[in-house]
Amino acid sequence: MQEIKQYVETHKDRFLEELFELLRFPSVSADPKYKADVLKTAEFVAEKLVEAGADAVEVCETAGYPIVYGEKIIDKNLPTVLVYGHYDVQPPEPLELWHTPPFEPTVRDGKIYARGACDDKGQFYMHIKAFELMMQTHTLACNIKFMIEGEEEVGSNNLGIFVKANKEKLKADVVLISDTSMLSMEHPSLETGLRGLAYMEVEVVGPNKDLHSGVYGGAVANPATILCQMIASLHDENNHVNIPGFYDKVIELTDEEKKALNSAPHDNEEYKKDLGIDEVWGEKGYSTLERTGTRPTLEVNGIWSGYTGEGAKTILPSKANAKISMRLVPKQSSEEIAEIFTKHFQSIAPKTVKVKVTAHHGGEPAVTPTDGIAYQAAEKAIQDSFGKKAIPTRGGGSIPIVSLFEDVLGLKTVLFGFGLDSDALHSPNEKYNIYNYYKGIETLPLFHKYFAELSK
Ligand code: BES
Ligand code: MN
Ligand code: MN
Repeated sequence: MQEIKQYVETHKDRFLEELFELLRFPSVSADPKYKADVLKTAEFVAEKLVEAGADAVEVCETAGYPIVYGEKIIDKNLPTVLVYGHYDVQPPEPLELWHTPPFEPTVRDGKIYARGACDDKGQFYMHIKAFELMMQTHTLACNIKFMIEGEEEVGSNNLGIFVKANKEKLKADVVLISDTSMLSMEHPSLETGLRGLAYMEVEVVGPNKDLHSGVYGGAVANPATILCQMIASLHDENNHVNIPGFYDKVIELTDEEKKALNSAPHDNEEYKKDLGIDEVWGEKGYSTLERTGTRPTLEVNGIWSGYTGEGAKTILPSKANAKISMRLVPKQSSEEIAEIFTKHFQSIAPKTVKVKVTAHHGGEPAVTPTDGIAYQAAEKAIQDSFGKKAIPTRGGGSIPIVSLFEDVLGLKTVLFGFGLDSDALHSPNEKYNIYNYYKGIETLPLFHKYFAELSK
C-alpha cells in the first residue's frame, strides 16, 4: 500500500495532465461531425497503453468506431483480468450551460470539469495508470487485457460482433469495469446490478401539412395535444407504468433484500437540493433507491412538434414526435418490452391520427454476483484503501455489454466505479473529483493483488 501511494504521489501531476489530454479530444460518438476526433482518441488510448507497458496493442477496426485492445500476459497459470471501458462521450449540448468549455478540462474546487471526466475517460484511464504503476513497481499480480471501445454511448452496436469473433483473444477470468458510481467517498460501495434499456421513438401524424390554427384549429386533431395525452396515459395515478404486461416478469425484492438496499446511506434533502427540486417523484410504495435500482421505469427523453422558433407562429402542426425509453430490471427483455410498448402505443392512438413507433438500441439488465472471489477481491481492495466495508448497491444506469460478456464469454463482471451520481454524467458541467481519480489508481492494484491471491 505504501509503495502504491508513493508511486501515485510521485507521478500525480503527470497522471492528471495525461487525463486532461484525453479529455481534450471531443470524442462524441453520436455526432458524425466528430468522426476524426473519435478516431484520434482511439489512437491516443492505444499510444498510452503502449507507454504503460502493454503488448499486442491494436486499434481494432469495426463497422463503426474502433475498439482499442492491449494486454500483458505474464504467466499463463495466473488469472486474467479483462478491463473494459469506453473512450466515447455523450454530446456536450446545451453548450451555453457549461461554466467552462466541455473539452477544455478545468479544475475548480478539486473537481475536473469536462465532458467524459467521469463517464468514462476519467474512470477507464485510472486502469491504465494503475497498470503503469504495477508494471513499474513489478507488482502486476494477474495477466491483464484491455478492451476500450468507442460506441458505448450509442449502444455498442459493433462490440457484440467483435466479442463473438475474438473469444480466444478475450479469454479471461473476470471483467473489471469502472463506469458506475459509489455512494460517496465516506461510504464506498460496489454496484451489483444494472438496469436494461428499451429505447423507442414515436411519431404522431395528423393533417398532411402544418395548418392555419385559426382556419382549422378546433376542427382537426392537433398531433401535439394527442401525443401529450398518449404520453400522459403511460403512467397511472400511482406513477406505475400503465402498459399491459410491463411488470409481468419483474421480481419483487424480498423484505430482506429491501432492507439491505434501503440501509445504504441516502440523504433525501441533499438529493433534492442537488437537483433543485422541491419533492421527489416515483412509483407509489417504493423508496428512491428502490425506484432507481430495482424498478423498471419509463421516461420521455425528448419531445418536439410545431413551431419552436422566435416569436409566435399560429399553426396546427402536422406531426409530433417523442423519444421514450424504458429502464428494465432482471428477467425483462428489451426486445419483449419494445414489442409490448409498440403494440400498446398503437392501440391507444385515436382514429384522428396515425402513429409510427420505431425501436432504437436496447440492452439487457444485469446482476453481478456478490459471492465469488472477484467480488471478494474488490471488497478487500476497498477495505484496505478506504478502511471501510463496501456497501453493495444497485445502479440505475445501463451497461448493456455486461450481459453480453456473460452470454458470449461466460464471464462475470465486477462493477468497480469511482464516480458519484452527482457527477453530472450526460449533463452540462460533468465533473470528476481529482481525489476519486487518484483513489481509483491506488485501489485498483489491490484488486489485482487480491484476485490473484484468492484464485490460488
Ligand atoms: N456509465 C454509464 C452507465 C451508468 C452510469 C451506470 C451510472 C451506472 C451508473 C454509461 O456510459 C451509459 O450512459 N449508458 C447508457 C446506456 C447506453 C445503451 C447508451 C445509459 O445508461 O443511458
Ligand atoms: Mn459510461
Ligand atoms: Mn454514459
